[in-house]
Amino acid sequence: MAKKDSAAFQRCINPACAATFDIHEALTACPECGNLLDIAYDWEAIEVPKRLSDFERRWARRTDPLDFSGVWRFRELLSFAPEEALVTIGEGQTLLYHNETLARQIGLSGGNLHLQYEGLNPSGSFKDNGMAAAFTHARMAGARRAACASTGNTSASMAMYAAAVGMQAVIFIGSGKIAYGKLAQALDSGGLTLQIRGDFDDAMRLVQQAAPRAGLYVVNSVNPFRLEGQKTIMYRVLEALSWEVPDWIVVPGGNLGNSSAFGKAFIELHELGLIDRMPRIAVINSTGAHTLHTLVGDKGLSWGAGSVDDEAIAKYYGYLDAGGLRAHTVATAIEINRPVNLKKCLRALDAADGVVREVPDEDILDMKALVARSGPGCEPASAASVAGARLLVEEGVIGKSDRVVCIITGHVLKDPDVPVKYNSLTGEALVDALGLFSREAPKYQNLPVEIDADLEQIVKVLEGGA
Ligand code: F0G
Repeated sequence: MAKKDSAAFQRCINPACAATFDIHEALTACPECGNLLDIAYDWEAIEVPKRLSDFERRWARRTDPLDFSGVWRFRELLSFAPEEALVTIGEGQTLLYHNETLARQIGLSGGNLHLQYEGLNPSGSFKDNGMAAAFTHARMAGARRAACASTGNTSASMAMYAAAVGMQAVIFIGSGKIAYGKLAQALDSGGLTLQIRGDFDDAMRLVQQAAPRAGLYVVNSVNPFRLEGQKTIMYRVLEALSWEVPDWIVVPGGNLGNSSAFGKAFIELHELGLIDRMPRIAVINSTGAHTLHTLVGDKGLSWGAGSVDDEAIAKYYGYLDAGGLRAHTVATAIEINRPVNLKKCLRALDAADGVVREVPDEDILDMKALVARSGPGCEPASAASVAGARLLVEEGVIGKSDRVVCIITGHVLKDPDVPVKYNSLTGEALVDALGLFSREAPKYQNLPVEIDADLEQIVKVLEGGA
C-alpha cells in the first residue's frame, strides 16, 4: 500500500508503523495499526517560500479567491491538492487583536496579550479553516456525502461547506447538547441532522462506525486534512506579529484538533528553517471535561517518542465507563471526554514544551464576560483560553512580560443563551440555569434595568440615581 507518487502522502503517526498511503484515499485511521494519520510532504518537491514574509506578496491580490483565503494564501505549506481543486468560501479573514485592557486584568504587563479571533470566520468559528482543506480532499476522493459528530461548530461549518460545494451533510449530535446558534446554522444549511440520544462521545463513535456502511466522508478532526487547514491559524498569528514567534499559544482543548494542528504547524516551520524557535503551547480543559489534564497532569502521560502508553488511556476510559462519568460543562463546545486527537496533542505538547490546565466553568464565564468588555465577544469554550492564561500567569508559569496569544475559537452569537442567563438571572434561578455560582454572584454580571415606559424614570436612571 505504500505509495508516494506525489509530494504529499498520508502517514501513520506511530513511528513504529509509519505506513504511508496515497493522498486520494479517505482514511481516518491507519488501516495497519489503527493510529491517527498525518499528511506528510516531500518538501524538496514543493516550492516553499524561503522566508515567511514572501507570503506578503499575496496581500495585494484580494480579487484572487485563493490569495484572499486566509487558508490558501499559505498553500505551499499544505500542498496536497492542485490549485484548481482548492475549495474556499473566504475563510480565515480573522484578526489578531492586541488587548491591553484584558492583559492587565489577567496580570500581564500591558501590551502582551493578543486574541486571535477565529469567530470572524464565515460560519463563526475556527472550523472553517479545517473545512476548506477537508472539502478540498473530499472532492479529490470523489465523496458525495460528508458527515461529522459535533458539539455544534463542526456541524455548522460542515453544513455550510457542503451547501457551497453541493454535497449532502449528515450531522450526528447528542440530543440537547448543542448551542442554539450552531443548531440553527446546521438546520438552515439543509444538513440531515441526527439528534442521537447520547452525548458527543457516543456520536463520535457512531459516525465512525456508520461511515463505511453508508458511504460517508468523515470531516471530524480524525480526518488529517482538517488539521492541515487549521495549521494556517498559526501562520496568520505569525503574520500579524510580523513573523515573530510569540512566547505562548493558549488554546481551549476539546477534541484536541487545534492543539495538534498548531504543534504540527510549528514543527514543520522549524524543520523548514522558517522560524528559529518554537512557542510554548498551553491547552486548557474545562474541569467538567478534563481527560487531557487528568492523563497528562495526574497520570504523567506523554508522547514518549511515539510509544504512548495505550494501556493508561484504556484504563482511564474504563474508569469513566464503569462510573458512568460523562463530560459536563457550560462550555458545551469542549464537552468531550474521549478526545480523538489525544496522541497528536501529546506530540504537540512534547515539541512545544507544552502545559495543560483545567479551569472551572465559573472562571470561563467570568473571562468570557471580560473578553466581551474589551473587544469582540466569544462563546464560552473560547474563553477557556483566557481563563487558562490567567491561571498560568498567577502560577508564574507564564511570565508577566511574555507575549501571549489566546485563541478565541468561536463567535459570541454561537451560544446566545449563556450570556443572557449570566447577565439576567440571580440567586437560585442562575444556579439552576447554568449549574454553577452556588456560592457567589458572577463577577462581571451586567443586569438589565427594568423600568416603566416613563421618560422621567429613564432620565433618573441615566443620571445615576436609579
Ligand atoms: N472551541 C470551540 C468554539 C469549539 O467548537 C471546539 C470544538 C473547541 C474549542 C475545541 O477544539 O476540538 O480542536 O480541541 N468543537 C468541536 C465541534 C468538537 O464539534 O464543534 P478542539
